[in-house]
Amino acid sequence: MTAEPPDLPRVIGHRGAAGLAPANTLAGLHAAAGAGCRWVELDVRLSADRVPVLHHDRAVGANTGHPVATRTAAELARADGSVATLDAALAEAGRLRLGVNLEIKADDDDVDALVARTAAVVAGAPNVVELISGFCDAALAAARRHVPAVPRALLMQRPRVSWQDSVSAVAAGTLTMADGFVTPAFVAAARRAGFAVSVYTVNDPERARALWEWGVSAVFTDRPDRVCP
Ligand code: G3P
Ligand code: MG
Repeated sequence: MTAEPPDLPRVIGHRGAAGLAPANTLAGLHAAAGAGCRWVELDVRLSADRVPVLHHDRAVGANTGHPVATRTAAELARADGSVATLDAALAEAGRLRLGVNLEIKADDDDVDALVARTAAVVAGAPNVVELISGFCDAALAAARRHVPAVPRALLMQRPRVSWQDSVSAVAAGTLTMADGFVTPAFVAAARRAGFAVSVYTVNDPERARALWEWGVSAVFTDRPDRVCP
């Protein structure tokens, strides 16, 4: 089954606006909104006390010695410097009228717990999370169960051979691909099959324009101040 792709904005702030403020922070939400973004992308994973928090990498700190999953949300906020809870981020995004593409970082064991806890937070901030994405099919399948009303995007660095089956299996309406692996022919094929395509990470406005001309709906950028039309 193919889900209807959502109406994507042309520009999505990557990790908030990672070229303008620290990634996945409340400051990044403000930077993205100030640069003209309608949506931001944020990465979510679970702390040791099972609180969804914003963090891209599996570990925190310069030496990457401490997995996020081994620290409580309070420790992450205190010791590791401004790791925000998803709850706080969605409240701030709501105040700023930013839509959120939430990327599930499912590289720790309990994907279902991560998605279930994320879903509970998402439900507490109605109409803020516009899209849920992930590289992991199990995370998207869990999102389909726990947050069925929010559309899904399947992340693929490069196209899988059987990408149509993969996207259909999780009823995602959008394919999100890495720049450098997407081609005009792929975009055309995806669109013919009824999917929207978004591309990360695009910091050059000329490249963004070329991708939009190919039919790419949205680009993720660290520099919305440069890329927002
Ligand atoms: O969601 C697009 C992009 O954020 C995926 O890659 O590694 O930046 O989370 P990454
Ligand atoms: Mg991401």
